[in-house]
Amino acid sequence: MRNKLLVKRRFSNSIKTYEDNAFIQKQMAAKLVDILPDKNYKNIFETGAGTGILTKELIKNIEFKEYTYNDIIPDAKRYIDKIIPDAEFIEGDIEEISLNKNYDLIISNASLQWCSDIYKTISNLTEHLTKDGIIAFSVFGCENLKEIKEFFNIDNQYLDVDILNKKYNVIKYLSEETRVYFDKPIDIIKHFKLTGVNAVKEVKLTKSKLKEFEEKYTEKYTLCNKIYLTYNPVYIILQ
Ligand SMILES: C[S@@+](CC[C@H](N)C(=O)[O-])C[C@H]1O[C@@H](n2cnc3c(N)ncnc32)[C@H](O)[C@@H]1O
Repeated sequence: MRNKLLVKRRFSNSIKTYEDNAFIQKQMAAKLVDILPDKNYKNIFETGAGTGILTKELIKNIEFKEYTYNDIIPDAKRYIDKIIPDAEFIEGDIEEISLNKNYDLIISNASLQWCSDIYKTISNLTEHLTKDGIIAFSVFGCENLKEIKEFFNIDNQYLDVDILNKKYNVIKYLSEETRVYFDKPIDIIKHFKLTGVNAVKEVKLTKSKLKEFEEKYTEKYTLCNKIYLTYNPVYIILQ
């Protein structure tokens, strides 16, 4: 089970610094919009809208009539109001809220991985698709942050596309690996704080643990005097 209070706290605390540091999430939003099969929708529902990185991509590239969005943190409204003033906001946990409309596009960028049960969430969302409606989302795959998983004992659950394939018509599945470079291991810790990406569990970093992390990380993951971290974005569109 996800600790939703922790997820809420981490994203609320990082909301002001999120956009300047969420370079991977920005690339993911652009790609997700780029691979959409149509450029015109009637009703869009976005979950985990945050500061609106995906919302801005959609408004630049996609035609739509009505926009509804959701986030677990109420502050999202301040950001999305500036992008789409007449959009409807449904505040709350996507695993708890109820939707009372159907949509021809349900979309989410780098957010559904925070669900306790992503399959159930997807199943619930499909109940709110119009006849030919689609769900398009990006999450992170099993190679994500692989350099730090062992050290911080991160045991994220990852989406298995075969499970989705059995139940839905998966019309697109893409998995990519991309390396992000930093000067020092401490910059990775800062990067997590500034984007809220460290919302999985509370990790106590004592001085000695930090020193050990810096030494081991530099030794194992240095290339051309920089250290690197792997992101593994996964894009899925299903009907
Ligand atoms: C990494 S941010 C991505 C934000 C935005 N989609 C983007 O493209 O940058 C994840 C967002 O999902 C929201 N979130 C996390 N768990 C959620 C949940 N269970 N229900 C609704 N929103 C959630 C967070 O508050 C945060 O705004």
